[in-house]
Amino acid sequence: MERLSTGVPEIDKILAGGIPRGFLVAVTGEPGTGKTVFCLHFAWQGVKEGDKVVYVTTEESRESILSQASQFGMDLEEAVRENKAIVIDALLGRASDPWSLRSLDPEELVEIVLKAKRELGFGRARLVIDSMSAFWLDKPAMARKYSYYVKKVLSRWDFTVLAVSQYAVTTSEAFGFGIEHVADGIIRFRRFVRGGVLRRYLIVEKMRQTPHDLRMYEITVRDGVGLVVLGPSGERAEDVSLPIKVKEKILQAKRREEEVL
Ligand SMILES: Nc1ncnc2c1ncn2[C@@H]1O[C@H](COP(=O)(O)OP(=O)(O)O)[C@@H](O)[C@H]1O
Ligand SMILES: [Mg+2]
Repeated sequence: MERLSTGVPEIDKILAGGIPRGFLVAVTGEPGTGKTVFCLHFAWQGVKEGDKVVYVTTEESRESILSQASQFGMDLEEAVRENKAIVIDALLGRASDPWSLRSLDPEELVEIVLKAKRELGFGRARLVIDSMSAFWLDKPAMARKYSYYVKKVLSRWDFTVLAVSQYAVTTSEAFGFGIEHVADGIIRFRRFVRGGVLRRYLIVEKMRQTPHDLRMYEITVRDGVGLVVLGPSGERAEDVSLPIKVKEKILQAKRREEEVL
């Protein structure tokens, strides 16, 4: 099976070589946990390997994404100039900008991504949607349907996809349930304050057809470098999960929502 390097060698190792070609992988977690930084590594690795790269940004402007990348030595701006990558700005959609989204509509998303793919040409392609949650923030019950639609259409176009799903700070749960079920894999980013210091972690919660590592890893973000894996963490699940009562409430709400679907 062909696997795509994520651009972070330690994460490739955790994934038994990388992400299988054609997969749609959900990148989940609370704000500030490193999701966007990870997606930038994946996109930049694509540029280095000659893949066609499309990056959709809904949370930050294109300028912000390009400048964040440059802090890690990734000249995504040049890649865009050389038509190796296209950054679709869904935050500051200006009428004069052909690579912008004016509404957070899944059909418009698919349409512009396919337009970008035609512009970049044939061949293996990578797509980052940062974030997918933005498309259903005001209608969480649509999460599964939208995810399924996007996956179904884009899988025919040789895309391997990272789809960011944001988790609420309050409950550590997704906005809208569904993408986790539709996705071929889930890479979960987390954060905790330990001894007064913010620590970040990642764990692969799901990766179809892959004997992946089941451990939680501590990570950090370094200037000039990007995401760095520090090593397996000794935290136990009980140390990092929500109180049982809170969890039960969330699960009840989840079941009700799934009954509606
Ligand atoms: N140049 C940098 N040097 C060190 N850390 C950085 C740098 N740029 C960003 N970070 C860290 O990365 C975090 C942002 O991570 P990001 O991937 O954008 O989070 P999110 O999960 O919300 O997408 C910042 O809060 C900061 O801690
Ligand atoms: Mg982000």
